[in-house]
Amino acid sequence: MARETTFDLQGRTCLVTGSTDGHGKAVALALAARGADVVLHARSREKALAVRDEVARAAGGKAPEILLADLARAEEIDAAVATYLESGRPLHVLVNNAGLVGLSRRVNDAGLELTFAVNYLAMFRLTLGLLPRLQASGPARIVNISSDTYRIAKLDLDDLQLERDYNMMKAYGQSKLAIVYFTLELARRLADAAGASVGRARTPADAPSGETAGRIASRPGGDAFDLRSAVDGAARWVTVNAVDPGPVASNIGADNPGLAYRLVGPLIRGFFPSAARAARTAVRVATDPALERSTGGYWRSNKRREKPLDFDPALSRALWEKSLELAGIGEPRLG
Ligand SMILES: NC(=O)c1ccc[n+]([C@@H]2O[C@H](COP(=O)([O-])OP(=O)(O)OC[C@H]3O[C@@H](n4cnc5c(N)ncnc54)[C@H](OP(=O)(O)O)[C@@H]3O)[C@@H](O)[C@H]2O)c1
Repeated sequence: MARETTFDLQGRTCLVTGSTDGHGKAVALALAARGADVVLHARSREKALAVRDEVARAAGGKAPEILLADLARAEEIDAAVATYLESGRPLHVLVNNAGLVGLSRRVNDAGLELTFAVNYLAMFRLTLGLLPRLQASGPARIVNISSDTYRIAKLDLDDLQLERDYNMMKAYGQSKLAIVYFTLELARRLADAAGASVGRARTPADAPSGETAGRIASRPGGDAFDLRSAVDGAARWVTVNAVDPGPVASNIGADNPGLAYRLVGPLIRGFFPSAARAARTAVRVATDPALERSTGGYWRSNKRREKPLDFDPALSRALWEKSLELAGIGEPRLG
């Protein structure tokens, strides 16, 4: 079980998505209690205002900022990114927490399956939009909330929208697997960019020996992704890690109509660990000074899983490119 952390976050700005409830709210409260300047992301102003008072109390009076966006809508994500960038505020920690489960298949305005759109593609779009600010504020951290359900999932790039065969676990697991791939791919790309900026070879093609090249290519969650060697001498860097909070007593799924959620909801809230307890791993990964250069990891119960999956570099690149295409955005400049 993750231990309680007490790191001082004075002067650090942390944005938490989906901070109106459950795990995200618990993360926001914990970061505020440690002195961070917290920005609460929400889709509902009313809910955000209620949580703002709670977070301000945890922070000893300092009220957090609010950033509004329905993550199912690309234009609202872009508007939130623009608002954030225009504010001039630094960004030291981005916790991509917002998520949902859908008992039946729903789509957003663009026709994308909602679990994929909100849990994964919104994270992809928001993160790439805010990356310049994270890099300018570095050292900075991105913490992507995934779930161990990724282990039973598959990524079928020809049916990411699950038009052929939808079920809740398939959709949820796929979105969480996409998050793991995104985390490892972005970590690799950021490590490459940081290494290049200090004149170090980081890609398999550039690597000085076959062994190093092999490690970089085949162990995206392992030592090769510890930025220590890549960023020695680099002034700023951004790490990216995935976290599974484990089961959380939350309202996840509450927006699903029908009997099934009415039966399952009370069990989730009654028997799963509290959100405050579940949030400890994400809070540690977001704040522990010992993890400042640790990247490309998957964390659960306060432990880093060195090899979260049998990483398929071709699939990872293909998902990245497909995500850019679906999001309608160009290749970001990371260096
Ligand atoms: N609960 C679990 O057992 C469990 C286990 C492993 C991982 N997780 C992950 O932990 C994260 C948090 O889940 P939770 O259990 O805390 O669920 P939750 O209580 O339902 O909280 C989800 C948060 O995401 C927000 N959200 C949902 N759809 C959104 C949208 N379209 N636009 C903007 N915000 C949206 C919600 O906003 P509203 O308040 O407006 O609905 C809420 O703030 C998720 O990524 C989930 O997959 C949960």
